[in-house]
Amino acid sequence: MGVSRGGFSSRFGFIMAAAGSAVGLGNIWGFPTQTASNGGAAFVLVYLVLAFSLAYPAFMAELLIGRYGQANAVSSMQKIARNTWQKRFGFVVGFGGIICAALILSFYSIIAGWMMSYAIEPLARLGGFTGAADWLINHSLIRNILFTALFMGLTIFIIRRGVEEGIEKWSKRLMPMLIGLLILLIIYVFTLDGAREGFNAYLNPDISRVFEPDLLISALGQAFFSLSLGTSVMIIYGSYIAKKENLVTLGAQVTLIDVSIAFLAGLLIIPAMYVAQAQGVAIFAEDGSLISGSNLVFTVLPALFTGMGDVGLFVAFGFFVLMSIAALTSSISMLEGPVSYVVERHDTPREKATTFIGLGILVLSILIVINLEWMLDFVATLSTQYGQPIIAMLCCVFAGWIWHRSDILSEIKQGNEHVEHSLFWKIWPWYTKFVCPTAIGLVFWHSL
Ligand code: PHE
Repeated sequence: MGVSRGGFSSRFGFIMAAAGSAVGLGNIWGFPTQTASNGGAAFVLVYLVLAFSLAYPAFMAELLIGRYGQANAVSSMQKIARNTWQKRFGFVVGFGGIICAALILSFYSIIAGWMMSYAIEPLARLGGFTGAADWLINHSLIRNILFTALFMGLTIFIIRRGVEEGIEKWSKRLMPMLIGLLILLIIYVFTLDGAREGFNAYLNPDISRVFEPDLLISALGQAFFSLSLGTSVMIIYGSYIAKKENLVTLGAQVTLIDVSIAFLAGLLIIPAMYVAQAQGVAIFAEDGSLISGSNLVFTVLPALFTGMGDVGLFVAFGFFVLMSIAALTSSISMLEGPVSYVVERHDTPREKATTFIGLGILVLSILIVINLEWMLDFVATLSTQYGQPIIAMLCCVFAGWIWHRSDILSEIKQGNEHVEHSLFWKIWPWYTKFVCPTAIGLVFWHSL
């Protein structure tokens, strides 16, 4: 590992950073609401199977490409390529992922900004600043711009410090906080009226729905978004892992944490919705489905917190801090993609590259904030529904068809000497070659 580019100092550091990237608004907000609208536990079941059978192999492909290349996404891909055509292909996939990460960050930071302003609101109310508290949740243009900038500022602050002092240190601080907060909130919500009904709704599978195409598509899309695939992020994080580490188990551990936290988030959100219903808040939309999306987070849950009286202020604070932390450990990984590229390919100092790229993405965010009605949806769809699956699929094609199997084996053997005789090595190569690209392609085609 090159001293100048840095790397994770420990296994725990990598796990926290990669799990930090994976665990985000997608887990705590997206997963529970998708579960609610897709047959409860049937969705959880399908998600679990797909996360391990399709997302994990694709995730391993990205980690391996990165650790082999020991460089940003483009250089790592190109190191594998053997001729000009393959190098061009490597550039398109690597750079495409970097652009995708930047685009996701541009809208993610807006939503994360909302989470932060909702986290500060209860504090303002506790302090008696009612006017300020009302302003914090009024969704005005100026509030949106200020909080997007604040969130981006935090992301830039961490990434400027580099891998060990920035990404690793902050992930190690924030992820345990996130898990602790999540568990505390679950325990509290469980003591409230209505929680049991939500618990049943969450965990009673409607098995008949398991093979519904829509459910399968949503579950796979969710698994890919959640593992941050197709954005160059896991390639660059892979490049910071030491050669002595066992990638197969590290990847599995991160997948397990990601899936578990999504599951836990469901245990919080769905029962919380039924508690809100017990208090008279409407939780079903007109068509009979559970309210999801921004109405859930910014209407249903705040109504629940208000109904709790003073305690609700603390619960609201805890909940939105949880959301903000989840978003921050993800957003730093998104910024690291483009930053590592510019630092390594254009020989730019990290601080300078981070500030410029961060500010550039902020300008795009502000443009989105100004044209919120159409642009937020447009950029989100473009990056997550088109960009991510296409790039993730191309990464599998790259690992499966261009990278020599013997070279992959010698890379993966480092830190895992006996991998050649393991179940992983019996399945993964052909899986990445045939099954993953086909399945991703099918799902992508269906979602169009
Ligand atoms: N995985 C993150 C989440 O679930 C989002 C993310 C996507 C992070 C792409 C990095 C890259 O919220």
